[in-house]
Amino acid sequence: MWKLQALVVHILLMGSILSTYFQPTILPNLVPQKTMSEMGLEPPANRLVVFVTDGLRAASFLANNGSDVPDLKDIYRKQGRIGISRTCAPTMTRPGHIAIFGGFNEDPAAALVNFRYNPSDFDTVFNRSRHMIGWAHRYIVDYFNTLPHGGAPLRFDSYMERELPKKLSCDKWAFDKVANFLTNGDNVREWRNYKPSVFLVYLADMDIAGHRFRPLSEEFFKRLQHTQRGIRNTYELFERVFNDSRTAYLMTSDHGMNNEGFHGGGSSFEVEIPLFMWGAGVRREEIDLEANFPRKPNISQVDQSQLAPLMSALIGLPPPMNNLAMMPVGYLNVSDEYEAVALHLNVLQLLSQAQILIRRHEKAMFYKWLPKFKELHLDLIDQYAPQFDFLKAEGNLTEAMEMCQEFGKLAKQCLEYYHEYYQIPLIVSTSLSYLIWFYCLLLQLTRLSKKEKVPRRGYMTFSTLILVMIGILVITMLELQNVPHITAFYLILPVGMLIMAQAERPVKGYWILHPLWNFGFILLPAVLMMSMAFIIKHLWMLYGISVLLNNRRALRKPSMKLFIWLCLALLVAIMLFVEQRIRKGLRNVPLKDFHVLYISMVLAIIRPLILGHRHDLRVWTFNTVAMLAGAYGVYQYMVYEESVSPYVYAVTWSFLFFAFLSIAYFAKSLPEARKRLQLITINMVTVLSLLTNSWSCLNVQIVITEFIFGLEVYEQSKRTKETEVVEDERKSLKNLKDFYRYGYMILLYFFVAFFLAGHWLSSFLFKSTAARLFYPHFSLYIAGSLVMLKILLPSLICICVLYAMVPFVRKNSRSILICAFLISDAMGLYKYYFVRNRGSWKRIRTCLDQILLTHAVNFMLLGGLCLAKIFLCNTTMEKPERKRTRTSRSTLAADETEA
Ligand SMILES: *[C@@H]1O[C@H](CO)[C@@H](O)[C@H](O)[C@H]1NC(C)=O
Ligand SMILES: *[C@@H]1O[C@H](CO)[C@@H](O)[C@H](O)[C@H]1NC(C)=O
Ligand SMILES: *[C@@H]1O[C@H](CO)[C@@H](O)[C@H](O)[C@H]1NC(C)=O
Ligand SMILES: *[C@@H]1O[C@H](CO)[C@@H](O)[C@H](O)[C@H]1NC(C)=O
Ligand SMILES: *[C@@H]1O[C@H](CO)[C@@H](O)[C@H](O)[C@H]1NC(C)=O
Ligand SMILES: *[C@@H]1O[C@H](CO)[C@@H](O)[C@H](O)[C@H]1NC(C)=O
Repeated sequence: MWKLQALVVHILLMGSILSTYFQPTILPNLVPQKTMSEMGLEPPANRLVVFVTDGLRAASFLANNGSDVPDLKDIYRKQGRIGISRTCAPTMTRPGHIAIFGGFNEDPAAALVNFRYNPSDFDTVFNRSRHMIGWAHRYIVDYFNTLPHGGAPLRFDSYMERELPKKLSCDKWAFDKVANFLTNGDNVREWRNYKPSVFLVYLADMDIAGHRFRPLSEEFFKRLQHTQRGIRNTYELFERVFNDSRTAYLMTSDHGMNNEGFHGGGSSFEVEIPLFMWGAGVRREEIDLEANFPRKPNISQVDQSQLAPLMSALIGLPPPMNNLAMMPVGYLNVSDEYEAVALHLNVLQLLSQAQILIRRHEKAMFYKWLPKFKELHLDLIDQYAPQFDFLKAEGNLTEAMEMCQEFGKLAKQCLEYYHEYYQIPLIVSTSLSYLIWFYCLLLQLTRLSKKEKVPRRGYMTFSTLILVMIGILVITMLELQNVPHITAFYLILPVGMLIMAQAERPVKGYWILHPLWNFGFILLPAVLMMSMAFIIKHLWMLYGISVLLNNRRALRKPSMKLFIWLCLALLVAIMLFVEQRIRKGLRNVPLKDFHVLYISMVLAIIRPLILGHRHDLRVWTFNTVAMLAGAYGVYQYMVYEESVSPYVYAVTWSFLFFAFLSIAYFAKSLPEARKRLQLITINMVTVLSLLTNSWSCLNVQIVITEFIFGLEVYEQSKRTKETEVVEDERKSLKNLKDFYRYGYMILLYFFVAFFLAGHWLSSFLFKSTAARLFYPHFSLYIAGSLVMLKILLPSLICICVLYAMVPFVRKNSRSILICAFLISDAMGLYKYYFVRNRGSWKRIRTCLDQILLTHAVNFMLLGGLCLAKIFLCNTTMEKPERKRTRTSRSTLAADETEA
């Protein structure tokens, strides 16, 4: 029950945080503006062909005056213009496509949580044109296909990578499909009549090649050659078939790629992507005689979302209804009037969105007394269109365009203002929710640490009634104020939390024991951990000091075990230092990734042998076979162009199930906690080795070994110096200290393992290779879940170790988890005030990831504890106190093998 409560509360808190900063901003019930023909102007082009080269960055395209894209350079000699388009958001495929064709930047939260699913419907250039056909990967198709189309369904021809005969033949597939389509006379006759029409040619190979070979490799340039030649051939085919000089072409990417072959972050390699426009209606820039490609300071730049209004204007359409960008001026070879009117439509469409928000606020009950956006109001919006018409009739077009720009800017500011209107109330209410949650947890902690069990008050109290009435009152007021429902929900969340917290109060007596001590115990670790892990990045120091302090008593009595433990702790500290403080971390060690992996696999077998673990023969066999298959798979993956034989998949998947099920299966025969722990450890380490690319499995094994040794050293030193009878008051404080000690320890080891496993915190992108031994293609869900599993496993083992070896932990697991929650929630709350949702994308990503991580910890610990309880149910712990106090150093060797 309490687990469910913790789970739900943490989900709500996380939702509250995300809704503060990352609410969907798409407005419903918009209507499209008029088309250019309806405004009496002939568009310069009838059809638009868009080539989207996934993952091609501007740097690769523009390098060496375009000698890497000779065929496109040929085109550029005669016509067209080249620029840079700047993406934003996480530089990923989905946000990129939505920005290009929808004209706005998708909320990062929506992208992160849903990825495949549109939180709300949005309009696109495709839908505006009413006639579109595309050839694309099924992922891309899924972004657009489910949107309502009002009677003009989008036509797509799609594929999945696994359906293609060869790797890296996506582009060939697309070019062939286009060629097939256009060589059919019926199709051409049909599409010649469609005005305007849009063709999408999605080219996936550049992205795949970039990931696989990295953008500076020979192989990558070979693929680039192929792709750019295909674009030229397709262009020539279109020109041949339609032969009316009424086709415009646009080539761009959804995102770039850095030199390491990743994207998602905000470096200029990832953000800057090429924009090449040519064909009908494109205004050419001044170029030099040799048609050299323009270079950085002089090259024209647009935002990626500006492409949507630009493309619309090119074929005479109004911008997509949800578009939030202004069309860049000077890109079209059209009359001044045409450009002014296109801009006008663009502004009208922005104003119509602003209008919705202003109306919504004006209708609200308390509008008069609340702050508002003064620069733009409904009257001013009403004056805009007549003023534009007047200026246009006067022939004063420059003036008209200046006014357009002015109003466009105002409309955008207004939209932004009202979108963030409830941000501060949300921040306040989220903080309150957090504080109440702390209060609730502390009440629980107090109740748990009391000897005599005092019952909780429960929900049937007077305060519940009052709070419910307050809640209803607030809801009514929020409803009258027209607050969006999600916002309203999180605004009243504190009331709900307070009802829950009140119910936790004891029937009589104390509230919270030792409030100051609690405060200190929460704050100190939270501050230290936050600053050391994320801000000044010296986690190694925190780790070293923590473990030494923890075992300070043992240091006075040197022993072999202590020495081994010290060495291991030193090793972990050094590795942490290297990983966090030195560029490229452990990769500086001159060992190939797969060598490290092989070493860690060998260690996974040798470690239990050295430590004298005894396992069933079947366990040894299965683990060894799984690791051999894994090693073979890794080898295959390297040698045979990333294909792994199906047998390996079969083995890895069966082992994954075996690893978890076997623990239940052998449970009967392993009644001692230690024995079962050994089984859990070996199985989980093997799973980890199958999920690893290079260092993480080795590191995690070292950390676990260190952890177990440290714990044993600690327990021994405690036992020899057990001060028995303490008075009740002191005892409860001591217990409290121990709760926090173990809570902190679990968290600390989570972060140590997290950083040592080399998870990259600044893009929550999954390295697709984490699942290479499980699944041949990249799939978000499978790869994502496996990465989560990989992050969870070290903590799971640590919790199991504590649960199996320390009676105190087993007895007080809930209190300890509560302490861990308190600490990590304090970290999460702190981070909450520093989330940025504007500005540099790298910062935004980092904030978001840290927020998500500080919450993910809670879920993982909760899950880890549940699993540990299941794994270790019905086990007996050795009761060594009496016996061990007599064991002296001479019997330590025997002791060790037993471990
Ligand atoms: C190409 O660019 C380089 C500098 O990047 C420049 O020196 C050279 O003149 C350009 N033109 C040709 C034809 O290579
Ligand atoms: C697509 O266009 C039609 C017709 O204008 C419109 O009814 C429909 O709402 C649009 N779809 C979206 C998702 O806006
Ligand atoms: C294109 O059409 C024109 C007449 O409109 C014709 O003279 C020309 O040969 C055609 N070109 C091609 C390549 O078919
Ligand atoms: C605009 O298009 C016309 C043909 O329609 C062409 O002659 C002219 O050079 C183009 N101007 C620019 C700047 O591209
Ligand atoms: C940018 O343009 C100016 C003049 O328009 C020219 O002198 C300068 O060389 C250009 N810079 C580059 C890097 O092309
Ligand atoms: C354009 O309008 C401004 C004032 O709105 C006026 O000063 C200017 O003379 C006008 N220009 C032309 C060419 O009509």
